[in-house]
Amino acid sequence: RKPKITVIGSINMDLVTIATRMPMQGETVLGETFRLIPGGKGANQAVAAARLGADVHLIGAVGTDSFGTLLLQHLEKEEIVVDGVKPVTDVETGVATIVISEGDNRIIVVPGANYTLCPDDLERWEEKMATSDICLLQLEIPLPVVERAVAIAKRHGVRVILNPAPAQPLPDTLLDQVDFLTPNEHERDIVLAGRSIKKWTQKFIVTEGKRGVSFQRHGEWVLIPGFHVPVVDTTGAGDTFNGAFAVALSKGMALEEACRYANAAAALSVTKLGAQTGMPTEKELESFLAEKG
Ligand code: RIB
Ligand code: NA
Repeated sequence: RKPKITVIGSINMDLVTIATRMPMQGETVLGETFRLIPGGKGANQAVAAARLGADVHLIGAVGTDSFGTLLLQHLEKEEIVVDGVKPVTDVETGVATIVISEGDNRIIVVPGANYTLCPDDLERWEEKMATSDICLLQLEIPLPVVERAVAIAKRHGVRVILNPAPAQPLPDTLLDQVDFLTPNEHERDIVLAGRSIKKWTQKFIVTEGKRGVSFQRHGEWVLIPGFHVPVVDTTGAGDTFNGAFAVALSKGMALEEACRYANAAAALSVTKLGAQTGMPTEKELESFLAEKG
């Protein structure tokens, strides 16, 4: 049986510029390359899971503009079910302006249509959510939508992974309800906002870039090491991790194995330019893992 995953999250067009260096304040520099590449944390995680063989239902919103149209076509090509993506007429599709230079990236996200998603939009998808193996969420949509999604999922005993990015302090009730949180170290501190991690430690899967990911087992932090690969663009590496992690858990993998599987997917994703470019298919990931022993 194929894993069934509902992703509720953002859909953006990434405006990617590559330059040899970042401009200083008030300065203009010439760049090398400009590309329009599908992105958005929700869409990225949906694509990661779909390429790994999951049936993915995406709930989100796009504008009825050219970016929105292109993004919907793209998602359908990735075999993602997009009937839950709301078209909105008066707000632009979300965009992310990404500048890559000197092995670093800087990103400005304008949520646009993503922020028109409201909790009531989820009601008609309750049954679909209820029959999913996992609900996968991020924070590029309004927090009340995330809260409603978690409430619906938990009402039906569906496991929830919340990737708290971009990070904001989260209420106790949300931390109590979700099954897994997947921040990086910086996001973990923002999410906790000074509260002790203690009450929720077993839920935290902390991504640490190429080092790998760590989680607590029997009171000790365990590091599942990442894979070393030639890096072209790290945009979307976390998204690939999350999509793959959701698939791995749906397939019944134990935590350690699921993290290794997701680390491998993330490693492959950073070898190509663009968030979704480089995200592996199930076959590619399996042969990479077999090669690594
Ligand atoms: O996580 C990477 C994503 O963040 C990019 O695709 C961009 O759209 C931003 O939302
Ligand atoms: Na990539």
